[in-house]
Amino acid sequence: TKRWNLHNDQKYNDEALEEAAELLIKGKTVAFPTETVYGLGADATSEAAVAGIFQAKGRPTDNPLIAHVATKEQLTQLVIQLPVLAEKLIHAFSPGPITFVLPSNGACARNVTAGLSTIAVRMPDHPVAQALLKKCDIPIAAPSANVSGRPSPTTADHVWQDLHGEIAGLLDGGATGVGVESTVIDCTQDIPIILRPGGITKEQLEEVVGRVMVDPALINHEEQPKSPGMKYTHYAPEVPLWLVEGSFEHIQQVIDRERISDKKIGLIASTETAKQIDADHTINLGSSQQLNEIAANLYDALRAFKQGNVDLIICEAFPEEGIGQAIMNRLKKAARMVVKEM
Ligand code: TXA
Ligand code: MG
Repeated sequence: TKRWNLHNDQKYNDEALEEAAELLIKGKTVAFPTETVYGLGADATSEAAVAGIFQAKGRPTDNPLIAHVATKEQLTQLVIQLPVLAEKLIHAFSPGPITFVLPSNGACARNVTAGLSTIAVRMPDHPVAQALLKKCDIPIAAPSANVSGRPSPTTADHVWQDLHGEIAGLLDGGATGVGVESTVIDCTQDIPIILRPGGITKEQLEEVVGRVMVDPALINHEEQPKSPGMKYTHYAPEVPLWLVEGSFEHIQQVIDRERISDKKIGLIASTETAKQIDADHTINLGSSQQLNEIAANLYDALRAFKQGNVDLIICEAFPEEGIGQAIMNRLKKAARMVVKEM
């Protein structure tokens, strides 16, 4: 795996992007930063190149990928047509942390869409992703650049831990900003449906298009999700994690109860909560008044606790509003158990 550490040297960066683009055009896999998480890219028009992504990640082949493009013109080349509501959302939020599910015209390889009639398309808003996509001038299929099931990578080191030796290249552009993946929105119906909460919030979407629905499977876990990827176990830390709702006192009680059996407890919490609670190791996600900061630090925290350090991770629950919806969606998937306060 070739690793390029991008910095302020424009000439070096240009050469690195050039080499990375060449690898992609040749059908190899290259990881790159986006504003949400790092992606693992390959030529979306080549079935063999895309197969390399599934291989490197150990990803189930029935889980479709997102095609990344630099411009709206490129986006329209992948779909049968752009519904009016998609036009509006693209205008408002792209480039940015949002992915549109649209009727596919078959321009991408079949394994990108896992045989579905729709395709997920995203225009990322990160200078490295933008520059790379422009240089390649082909759609790039890219899931998050982690081993399937692990937390998504928000730094190049996370990618390196998971995929070193399995991929051709890694562009290190520093930590990503948003920290949770893009919002996936189905635009094939009259009313848009959020399939995965993410960087653009439901409230922001509603301001532009009025009514927005949420896939019932995101609320009721008995339902079959409309997005294939949402049914898999995800974001699992090495050590079991319990998501604990309720007051400081309740969180402390849960910790104290588990400590009786000599378990070492790791705590993941906001600054405010961390101050009030005694655990063996604490990771501070930032102020609970700044859910954006919590989102940005979340996946690094989920990767930080290792077997041997702690026996159980206790994580605080956050309000399910704004970006909090994405945070809680990921935490519920990462958790073995949700502990409610009686
Ligand atoms: O922020 C992001 O979206 C990152 C960066 C790299 O762009 N990418 C990412 O990709 O999170 P991935 O593969 O980890 O998640 C893509 C999600 C999966 O849940 C997948 O099932 C869903 O999008 N998806 C892809 N194509 C779909 C389609 N045609 N219909 C419904 N869901 C689809
Ligand atoms: Mg992923």
